[in-house]
Amino acid sequence: MKISKIKAYEILASGGYPTVEVEVTLDNGFTGIASVPYGASAGSHEATVLNDEDQSRYGGKGVLKAINNIKNEIFPAIKDLDVEDQIGLDKKMCELDGTPNKARLGGNAILAVSLAVARAVANAKQIPLYRYIIDTYNTGVDLNKLPNPMIVVIEGGKHADDTTDLQEFCISAIGEGRVSENIRKAIESYHQLKKVLKENKLSTNVGNEGAFAPNGIPDNEAPFKFIVEAIKRAGYEPGKDLGISIDAAASEFYEDGKYNLKVENRSLTPDELLAYYESWLQKYPIATLEDMFFEDDWDSWVKFLPIASKYNVPHIADDLTVTNVERLQKAIDLKAASAILIKLNQIGTLTETVQCCMLANKNGFMTTTSHRGGGETNDTAMVDVAVAVGSRFVKVGPTRGERVSKYNRLMQIESEILGE
Ligand code: PGA
Ligand code: ZN
Repeated sequence: MKISKIKAYEILASGGYPTVEVEVTLDNGFTGIASVPYGASAGSHEATVLNDEDQSRYGGKGVLKAINNIKNEIFPAIKDLDVEDQIGLDKKMCELDGTPNKARLGGNAILAVSLAVARAVANAKQIPLYRYIIDTYNTGVDLNKLPNPMIVVIEGGKHADDTTDLQEFCISAIGEGRVSENIRKAIESYHQLKKVLKENKLSTNVGNEGAFAPNGIPDNEAPFKFIVEAIKRAGYEPGKDLGISIDAAASEFYEDGKYNLKVENRSLTPDELLAYYESWLQKYPIATLEDMFFEDDWDSWVKFLPIASKYNVPHIADDLTVTNVERLQKAIDLKAASAILIKLNQIGTLTETVQCCMLANKNGFMTTTSHRGGGETNDTAMVDVAVAVGSRFVKVGPTRGERVSKYNRLMQIESEILGE
């Protein structure tokens, strides 16, 4: 099978700026479509989102350069390749780009092609994308254990104005049972949270990811209390059925060795911040922690891991590792984290994403596959990846079409696997 045609064009992502969508047609007539997201608090070590920087269109955020790169460079370079060799095809695109972070052709251009090709081949073989990924990379996953929801319910940081410094508070399903039921429990708790926030005179407007973004919240600790209350009111046991996951996205409030908690009007040293975090671990049913320190503050990460581990709580690396095997290997070697967030567009090809997950699995790092805050699309490939590599969680917001499409895909997969 070879590619006979590639269409590449701009679509709008949830943040209102353009992103890349690609339709690949194979010589047997099968097609695959894929689009890619972008982040709001992207790590500085991520693959490049190539924007036009042409101020006359979308304030410089058009992606026509990326699209032209697909048409004029990528397509000619891959059109004679065997598309069933996804690893070879992804490697070819990386070589053609020639930079360490896909700065020349754009991570957005390369990933859209990578995923659209995989979908086209899966369609040609008449198998679901997750099955194609399992077969292609021999992931050896146990499909009896599907990823559980980690549903963002309160968001702040770069995702909303005048709210918490921490970027995300999530409700994570930690109990057994089928995923669709676990999604139900978490979402029911989210609905209860709306009432709890209202009773506390806080707004229930939503932020980038469709989670509540309450203005005037007193401090970074308040969401824990509200969420525990919401879980109980929904009829579930905090710490047993559902736990709380947080993503500090600490790079966003770090400056010159200090962590600035604006909402609390104070600036903490890494050690003070660490002690603050430990007090939360003692008090609240925390399921996971993510990016609790700045992306290059390796010392604090290393210092914090034994503390998180003492409470049996995984510390997930996101901006620290950016779905990159080299940075993951460093985190493994230094014992800086115990889990990794997976975002396809942080690295820019399907193959590199899956390889990162396999390295994580081999080293006992739990994986959580994640949406992006800045601009998501309705593409659900991240869910198929999560299923194919055996992620423990998928992290996605609770409302808005581009978010719920992910949970809906997960429930569809579950139903298909159960033969319903
Ligand atoms: P993003 O943040 O806005 O960079 O996608 C999401 C996250 O940090 O997990
Ligand atoms: Zn994060």
